[in-house]
Amino acid sequence: MTERLDDTEAGIISAAALLRAGELVAFATETVYGLGADATDPRAVAAIFEAKGRPRFNPLICHYADAGTALADVNATDLARRLADAFWPGPLTLVLPRGARCRVALLASAGLDTLAVRVPAHATARALLRAVGRPVAAPSANRSGRVSPTTAAHVLRELDGRIAAVLDAGRCPIGVESTVLDLTGERPVLLRPGGATREAIEAAIGPVETGKPVGPLRAPGMLASHYAPSLPVRLNATSAAPDEALLAFGPPLPGAGATAQLSLTGQPVEAAANLFAALRALDEAAKKQTLRAIAVMPIPDAGLGLAINDRLRRAAAPRQE
Ligand code: TXA
Ligand code: MG
Repeated sequence: MTERLDDTEAGIISAAALLRAGELVAFATETVYGLGADATDPRAVAAIFEAKGRPRFNPLICHYADAGTALADVNATDLARRLADAFWPGPLTLVLPRGARCRVALLASAGLDTLAVRVPAHATARALLRAVGRPVAAPSANRSGRVSPTTAAHVLRELDGRIAAVLDAGRCPIGVESTVLDLTGERPVLLRPGGATREAIEAAIGPVETGKPVGPLRAPGMLASHYAPSLPVRLNATSAAPDEALLAFGPPLPGAGATAQLSLTGQPVEAAANLFAALRALDEAAKKQTLRAIAVMPIPDAGLGLAINDRLRRAAAPRQE
């Protein structure tokens, strides 16, 4: 059963406590309801993908109470600061390089070196974010492939029983998602039109380019900046050689030159939480010793295992630099 929390101080405090404990809580923003999790907790972030039934890991937007904390997790440019001054709090999401001291789990970036940050304007969302005191990763609170919800009833129709609570603050005033603007290239690129109009953005910073849509239409694995391990990947390994790095799922195979564990007990949610950090750890190991490939132990194609295997299959496919 999913708890329905009222838009009161007590409701907000309960929602914040659940989020801090690693639970999933849907909450209203000025655009649509978000499916929130503590962005610093990789397991909580993995649980978002599980609840949504996403077949693959899309990068998620991180929500902050104020611009200062948002920009502290990324490498902010002057342009980013100008946009933050003009549009935050509000329905504009900025994609920026992850900062050196970024607290957000790698899984929330789906392995990208960038992070989407946003400071919502909704009073309840802001009070919640202040009470949590951590960034909150939140895609729209719908099952994968469905439209974004704008009431708590919509959220419950799709996610009842799959998340701990929904913080019901009535209908979302804007009703379409935030505008996503990519600031990682030479020119700003509009990745998704949304609540902040192109006209308003261009009035503030001048012309922006129209990008290819991201998300379901453009797989994160196809983004040029997507993190891919430097070593070739060998799937469904049933043995490991001394010059191989092992990505273990369950009790590790013997004999590998280096090992990173996804989940000793074979749990897909834990494995998803560890995936990108484990791949990076094996790449680090390859800098110190000679390793020719990453041998990946079989991961069942069910639940989050589907998304994990999707990601690993892309890593195993021939590179298109
Ligand atoms: O209004 C909104 O933005 C809502 C509320 C809850 O804040 N959130 C939302 O999240 O719509 P979601 O996950 O449904 O959409 C996020 C979009 C996706 O198209 C995703 O691909 C893109 O933002 N995105 C997130 N991180 C990105 C990144 N690092 N680089 C490029 N695109 C990114
Ligand atoms: Mg969505």
